[in-house]
Amino acid sequence: MARTTVPSVRARKGSGLTMITAYDAPSARAVDAAGADMILVGDSVAMVVLGYDDTLAVTIDDMAHHTAAVARTKPNALIVGDMPWLSYHVNSEDAVRNAAKLVRAGAQAVKLEGGVKRLPAVHAILDAEIPVMGHVGLTPQSVHAFGGYKVQGKELDAAKAIVDDAVALAEAGCFAIVLECVPDGVARMVTDAVPVPTIGIGAGRHVDGQVLVFHDLLGFTDRTPPKFVRQYADLGGAAIDALSRFVADVQAGSFPSSDETYHLADGVADALGLYGSAAEHAEPISS
Ligand code: KIV
Repeated sequence: MARTTVPSVRARKGSGLTMITAYDAPSARAVDAAGADMILVGDSVAMVVLGYDDTLAVTIDDMAHHTAAVARTKPNALIVGDMPWLSYHVNSEDAVRNAAKLVRAGAQAVKLEGGVKRLPAVHAILDAEIPVMGHVGLTPQSVHAFGGYKVQGKELDAAKAIVDDAVALAEAGCFAIVLECVPDGVARMVTDAVPVPTIGIGAGRHVDGQVLVFHDLLGFTDRTPPKFVRQYADLGGAAIDALSRFVADVQAGSFPSSDETYHLADGVADALGLYGSAAEHAEPISS
């Protein structure tokens, strides 16, 4: 299968694009094997992997570390590296250098949050030949400014501002735009207003693609998933079940079995005179 590129994503408006987050080699391999178009190395890593309450704690070096792990798997999916809070807010030079860190780690594009306010950073990064994915609506890096994780664009002015932000990002040259937690009517307006694909999360059906967080989709988290998450598995439950069986087997003396053990050849065991034949010693240890 050919590797997904930024131009190929940009050309797929209206075609059911898929993006799933991944933060390390096993998750990236799984997402790629599932046939997703894009892997987002999201700053959600802070919450679903690193145990923070929000995404604000992760740095550009953290994001480069996780991006590199994903990139080492050489996926066909396009790798989008998420720019963390404060990596593009200070000035444009800083934004370009930080975006370059993600590209050097293996990202083919970067994503950043915000609309009109972030245009200087978007322009500067694009000028450095780094493709940018926009992100409007509920932008989790603004959690304190928003007063929590709330659906955005419910009022007239707020809805218009989201459309204006998305149009400005598309005009600046963003190749796709994430729309997070907005009413479906707003998502439809944005999708109709921009020539590039919109990728929704909690934005309903009237978008050009969908993104979900790996751990939410697979039920591998202890937080209550938002209503827009469809959980396709219970990996958390399956993991606890498997780990409990390991604990029980060790406690019962049934792990490891003879087949799971390296044995000395009989002659060597006898010559060592330590404990009879290897075969004899290979039986499970009883408590
Ligand atoms: O970090 C992330 O996982 C994201 C998605 C929610 C779009 O930005």
